[in-house]
Amino acid sequence: MSDDYRARLRSLPTFPDDLPVLDPDGVPEHPLDLFRTWLDDAIATGERQPNAFTLSTIGEDGAPSSRTLIIKAIDEHGLHFSSNRRSRKAAQLAARPIATALCFWRPLGRQVEVTGHVTDLGADASQADWAERPSYTGAPNPEWVLWALQPTRFEFLQATLDRRHVRVEYRRGDEGWTHRQPSTPAG
Ligand SMILES: Cc1cc2nc3c(=O)[nH]c(=O)nc-3n(C[C@H](O)[C@H](O)[C@H](O)COP(=O)(O)O)c2cc1C
Repeated sequence: MSDDYRARLRSLPTFPDDLPVLDPDGVPEHPLDLFRTWLDDAIATGERQPNAFTLSTIGEDGAPSSRTLIIKAIDEHGLHFSSNRRSRKAAQLAARPIATALCFWRPLGRQVEVTGHVTDLGADASQADWAERPSYTGAPNPEWVLWALQPTRFEFLQATLDRRHVRVEYRRGDEGWTHRQPSTPAG
């Protein structure tokens, strides 16, 4: 890589000046409440596809693989997403039904990592999702699957201009959700 290109990459604009503040002592008890608030905030910025996220799954050889998907809904089953049953992700989820979802909301300097167990929501829910897609022609698609990622861990990150990013980690245990600030460095 040329020195010019390296300098160009390092001089690109970073976070916006007016970042929100995350107070770790003021967060809700349930992480989905914070997740919904942050998704609503991202929608309010007018950013395109604020419901897009990166889904990482684990392959047969143990290697992670990732792709961008769309969050279709959020309910007691978790985060809904859909795809083709013959896709690589579907094969990986059938073998190892765990995944991590990563949202990055650039205009707000916010990132959320969500890890959990993935379940197939069944034929009726899958066909209902298929029928709501813009390309729907009236024909069902038996290859279409709607899944839900049921979270067991969340990590919320609010970037700060001084790069002392503030994070809150939630974990689900037998007694419900607990949260704390991670002890490992944020960057
Ligand atoms: C913004 C964006 C949104 C996408 N949304 C979906 C989606 O909701 N479902 C889907 O199957 N693929 C979606 N894709 C395509 C996936 O990223 C991916 O290429 C495809 O699902 C195949 O992934 P796999 O081979 O890892 O299974 C989207 C791509 C982009 C860029």
